Amino acid sequence: MSKKVLVLGSGGREHALAWKLSLSEKVSKVFVAPGNGGTASLNKTSNLDISLKKKDFPKLIEFAKSESIDMTVVGPDDALADGIVDLFEEAGLKVFGPNAKAAEIEASKAYSKELMSRANVPTADYQIFDDYETAYAHIKSEAKYPVVVKASGLALGKGVSICHTEKDAMDFLQKIFIDQVFAKAGNKVVVEEFLEGQEISIHAFCDGKSAVLFPTAQDHKAIYENDRGPNTGGMGTIAPLPFISNEDLIEISETVVLPILKAMAEDGRPFKGLLYPGLIMTNSGPKVLEFNARFGDPETQSYMRLIESDLYDVLEACVDSKLEELNIQWSSKSVASVILASEGYPVSYEKGKDISGISEAELSDDVKVFHAGTKLDAHKLLTNGGRVLAVSAIADNLKEAIDKAYNAAAKIDFQGAYSRKDIGAKALKVLEPIS
Ligand code: AMP
Ligand code: GLY
Repeated sequence: MSKKVLVLGSGGREHALAWKLSLSEKVSKVFVAPGNGGTASLNKTSNLDISLKKKDFPKLIEFAKSESIDMTVVGPDDALADGIVDLFEEAGLKVFGPNAKAAEIEASKAYSKELMSRANVPTADYQIFDDYETAYAHIKSEAKYPVVVKASGLALGKGVSICHTEKDAMDFLQKIFIDQVFAKAGNKVVVEEFLEGQEISIHAFCDGKSAVLFPTAQDHKAIYENDRGPNTGGMGTIAPLPFISNEDLIEISETVVLPILKAMAEDGRPFKGLLYPGLIMTNSGPKVLEFNARFGDPETQSYMRLIESDLYDVLEACVDSKLEELNIQWSSKSVASVILASEGYPVSYEKGKDISGISEAELSDDVKVFHAGTKLDAHKLLTNGGRVLAVSAIADNLKEAIDKAYNAAAKIDFQGAYSRKDIGAKALKVLEPIS
């Protein structure tokens, strides 16, 4: 068998997916559109200069048809929300990801909250508002602090604010409704209870009817140590989490993932693809913060190091609704992925800095460096975005994986390289004996 795959996106997530697919004996060729400096130099892989803007969807379909692509995997949320899967399916092409209606579970927090209520899925108490005055009156009269204010639509992770005072909440409401900084994504607002506990990422392969959960992971969203500063796309992940038991995972499957799949199927929007609920482990059990309809970034950079099954088979089983026939295998090792970002990210940063030291960092087979914001310019590797690289290391236990990732990251250099120094520290702390 010689399968051709098209991966859509340009981040570290897509490099990790393309890397894992390129290792499959069944896969003869991987195309990545538009890709990055890492996917440009990957074995069996070529970048394709087509954007993921909606206007370019027909070009992608034309390419997939002319190259007889066997499977397309969609990375980013906005392409899913814009209906790329619907168009590929209409063209008779196999594609991994939810259609636009199913992707609303991420693209509309209002829909996802309503779905959770219907399916009895534990989540933060909330109210939805579609005008400034009513939301303002609610905050004035009712809210306890901190309170969380969220724009309902897709806002690149920036549409959520944890407000510690009434003024913070009012300011954020003003930004959304009056200043309209999130445009259409701010037509509705969710105001919800602040949840306390460890935040975890769940990933589940879904085929519309059934789901297979990955080991659990933890991202580190804030830019600075101890979860301070503005939220980013994610500054580093670890997996599996030492404080989540098998029983916890079964509970999450039975109280979150399966009820949502059932409710979506009943809604006429069966979910095929990757369902990624973000959860807080509260004192009263796991509660959902949000659902994503795609692989996490940088969770995927960690997960692709742990999955032992052939990724092509898994994607195909999801698309063909045959997940129950597979027994997906995972390594029993631990993994840590540390992001190297450009100075100034997530606010503003420069591009075009020379990157060195990646081959030194990858001298050990346990270390793999996934590219995000990089580009090859006449064989020179340059920074080209906010999150630049993910240095991912596997080891027999979490502590060793974290140490290896940081040792490898120290060999990489570009002007202004920034990383959080506490990736995994919160999880390791849970393991410390209480003195
Ligand atoms: P979301 O896009 O809804 O996942 O929110 C982005 C981030 O804000 C989450 O990853 C959490 O770190 C934080 N967050 C969102 N909602 C809550 C909540 N209800 N309680 C505590 N933290 C939250
Ligand atoms: N890990 C954060 C995200 O993918 O949304």
